[in-house]
Amino acid sequence: MLWTKCLLLSTATVIYRSRETVQAGTCYQRESNSNRLYGSKTSYAAVSGVDLQKPSDCTPIQVWMMSRHGTRYPSRETITEFKTKLNLLKAKITEQSPMCWDDINAIRNWNTNLTIQDHYMLQAQGIEELKTLALRLKRQFPNLFSTNYDASKFKFLSSPKPRATASATVFFQSLFNTNPEKDLPTTKNDDRISLSKCKVIVDDDAMDGSEEVNKFQNSPSVQSVVSSVSMKMGLSNNLTYNDVQLIFESCRYEKAWYPQSSPAWCALFSHNDLEILEYLEDLKYYYSNAYGNPNGERLGCPIVKDMINNFKNIARGQITPSGVFYFGHTPNVLSIVTRMGIAKDNIPLLSSNFEKQRGRNWRTSFIDPFASNFIAVFYKCREGNKVMFLLNEHAIPMTKESCKLCPWEPIENTLNPIISNQSCTLDFCSSFALCPSINTSVIVFIFIFTVLKM
Ligand SMILES: *[C@@H]1O[C@H](CO)[C@@H](O)[C@H](O)[C@H]1NC(C)=O
Ligand SMILES: *[C@@H]1O[C@H](CO)[C@@H](O)[C@H](O)[C@H]1NC(C)=O
Ligand SMILES: *[C@@H]1O[C@H](CO)[C@@H](O)[C@H](O)[C@H]1NC(C)=O
Repeated sequence: MLWTKCLLLSTATVIYRSRETVQAGTCYQRESNSNRLYGSKTSYAAVSGVDLQKPSDCTPIQVWMMSRHGTRYPSRETITEFKTKLNLLKAKITEQSPMCWDDINAIRNWNTNLTIQDHYMLQAQGIEELKTLALRLKRQFPNLFSTNYDASKFKFLSSPKPRATASATVFFQSLFNTNPEKDLPTTKNDDRISLSKCKVIVDDDAMDGSEEVNKFQNSPSVQSVVSSVSMKMGLSNNLTYNDVQLIFESCRYEKAWYPQSSPAWCALFSHNDLEILEYLEDLKYYYSNAYGNPNGERLGCPIVKDMINNFKNIARGQITPSGVFYFGHTPNVLSIVTRMGIAKDNIPLLSSNFEKQRGRNWRTSFIDPFASNFIAVFYKCREGNKVMFLLNEHAIPMTKESCKLCPWEPIENTLNPIISNQSCTLDFCSSFALCPSINTSVIVFIFIFTVLKM
C-alpha cells in the first residue's frame, strides 16, 4: 500500500451513520429523509468536501484534474424499462402494503417523462455540478484562473461521449466566462483516458460482474432486500432481483436529479436495504476496476504518469500549463484512486464479509459519486514545492506521515519507480480484448504443431 488509509472516508461514514436511524412504520413522504448514499449514482454535493483552498504561504502553480461527467440520464434500456416494467409494477402494489397512504399514493402516481433521446445525456444537476466546481476553483485560485482562456496555459481533453464533452464544455464556460471557440479536444485512443479498450472494464450501467458480485447478489442479504421490498408492496410473492434493481435505479436517479425530493420508489427501501445494495455495487467496482482486479493498479498508471510528469516539469522550472483538465467516466477516476492506493482495505471485499466490512474504506458513494473528481495541486510554498491530492474536494492524507499538503520530493520518489516501469501502458489491454482465453504459448504450440504435420 502506497498511502495510509483514506481516513476522511471512515470519519464521514461514522458521522453519517449516527444520524441515521430508521424506525419501522415511518412515512417516507412525510419525513425529511436523509438517505443520501447511492453508490455511483450518489449526488456530488452529498459527499464532497471543502479542502480545495489555498494554503497560506503557498502559491498554486498548476491544477491537474480528472473529472467524471456530472449527473446524467439512464441508459436507453433503463429508460425503456422505466416506461414499461416499472409502470406495470406500480399497479401491483396492494392494500396489504404496510406503508402509509402517502407512500402508496406516491408510487401509484409515479410516472416518468423521460424519452429515449435523453439516454446518457448530462442532466441539469450534472451541469450545475461542473459549473460550481469550476467557480470554486476560480475563487480559490484567482492567480491561475482569473484570466482569459489561452491554449498554451490550459489543457482540456475529454472522452468523446456526449455526457463527458458536455461536462467539459460547461466547466470551460464557467471557468472562463465564455464559450470555447471550437469544440474541446476529445480522444478515442489515448492511454490516459480511453480505458474502455480494456475489456476488463465494465460500463457504469452494467450490473453484471465477477463471481463475488454474483454470489452476493444471490446471498441471504440481497434476498432479504428483495423480500422486504416485496412485502412493503403488499405482495404475497417475491419480486425478482431485477425488478428490485429497477426500482432502486428509479429511486436513486430521481434523488440525484432532484436532491431535495423524496422519490416515490425510495420509500420501499430501509436504510439497511440501501447499505446492502451499496455493498453490491462496491463489490462490482472493486473487482472490475480496482483492488480486486489483478490489473486494477496498472489501469491508472499512464494517467498518473501524466500528472507526475507535469509536476516534474514545474519542479525543473519549465513553463507549464496552469490547468490540465481531463473529463471521463467512472473507470477513469477509479483507476487513479487505485494507482494512488487511496481507500484501500487490508481485508479484501468479499461476498461473504458484508457485515465485517461495514467500516470499509472502499465505498463507491464517497469515491465515485456523479461528477467525482481527483484534483492534484502543485504549490510553490515558502518551505519549497508541495502537492495536495484531493478526492471530491477532500484532501487525501499521503505517505507515512499522513500529510495533506506534502513536500513534493518524497511523493516524486515514491511514484517514480511506478511510472518509469516499462509496463506503464495500456498495451496489455488490447491483447485481452482480442484473445481473452488463449495465451501466446498456445498459439505458438498450435502453429508448430500445424507446421510439423505439413
Ligand atoms: C419532467 O419532469 C420534471 C419533474 O417533474 C420536470 O422538471 C421536467 O421539466 C420534465 N421534463 C420534460 C421534458 O417535460
Ligand atoms: C421470499 O424470499 C424470502 C427470502 O429469500 C423467503 O424467506 C420467503 O420464503 C420468500 N417468499 C415467498 C412467498 O416465496
Ligand atoms: C513493473 O510492473 C510490472 C507489472 O505491474 C511488475 O510485475 C514489475 O514487478 C514491475 N517492475 C519493477 C521493476 O517494478
